[in-house]
Amino acid sequence: MRRFVEEGGRVVFTDIQDEKGEALAKATGAHYQRQDVTDEERWVGLVDQVKAEHGRLDVLVNNAGVFQAATIEEMTVEGMRAVLDVNVVGLTVGCREAIRIMKENPGGPKGAIVNVSSITGFFGLASGVAYTASKGAVRLLTKSVAVHCARTYRNIRCNSVHPGVIDTPMNQAAFDASEDPAAMREMFAGIQPIGRMTEPEEIASGILYLASDDASSTNGTELLIDGGWLAAPNPL
Ligand SMILES: NC(=O)c1ccc[n+]([C@@H]2O[C@H](COP(=O)([O-])OP(=O)(O)OC[C@H]3O[C@@H](n4cnc5c(N)ncnc54)[C@H](O)[C@@H]3O)[C@@H](O)[C@H]2O)c1
Repeated sequence: MRRFVEEGGRVVFTDIQDEKGEALAKATGAHYQRQDVTDEERWVGLVDQVKAEHGRLDVLVNNAGVFQAATIEEMTVEGMRAVLDVNVVGLTVGCREAIRIMKENPGGPKGAIVNVSSITGFFGLASGVAYTASKGAVRLLTKSVAVHCARTYRNIRCNSVHPGVIDTPMNQAAFDASEDPAAMREMFAGIQPIGRMTEPEEIASGILYLASDDASSTNGTELLIDGGWLAAPNPL
């Protein structure tokens, strides 16, 4: 979000953590709005508001995501639905609503959607069955949206980003919940061949590229930002 502001974008960002959102808005100049991505009506209202206030929508980044630690044997139906609701259904409605406005952008249909999936869109994470299923869904849903938009509107694109391990509150929560947070942090840092976790700014760079006109012929692609993790499926 910060990177988009630095590039001169007028940025509206949303979350359900209002205190952090307001503070970030103050620090960056971006506009914060409360939005639960599982609320379909809120998506419709928000996108209409962006159109009314800013006249157009050029970029949507679907970044909200939740992780649930559960193997297939531990998984509950409620848990599965909760993860899919945020990571897949919310994101799908976001794509639909963004396209509704992007196709009416002054000057003709144009826009870029970037969906944040995960490296777990490529392989099974035993300890996160719902998360793995959701990120795999995002990977292929992105391609369906991309093909539809390319054929129908030409200049509306949709791509996915696949981070490996990022140093964010999502992982910090897992460290804090473990018996030895320092050891777990070190273990995570060792997963990626680069020997460290990826910084959020490095993910933002990839998102910025896919959202920009530099990627004007890049559609339906999967951008791995995983420190080489997928290139090295074994420790040899
Ligand atoms: N951290 C990692 O190692 C990692 C790896 C691969 C992919 N990802 C993906 O990157 C994205 C960002 O994750 P992160 O690591 O910054 O996690 P995070 O938990 O730090 O941030 C996720 C954000 O989503 C928000 N959110 C959750 N449910 C929401 C809802 N219903 N409506 C609106 N907002 C909601 C949270 O409040 C939070 O601010 C997620 O899609 C995640 O799956 C993260």
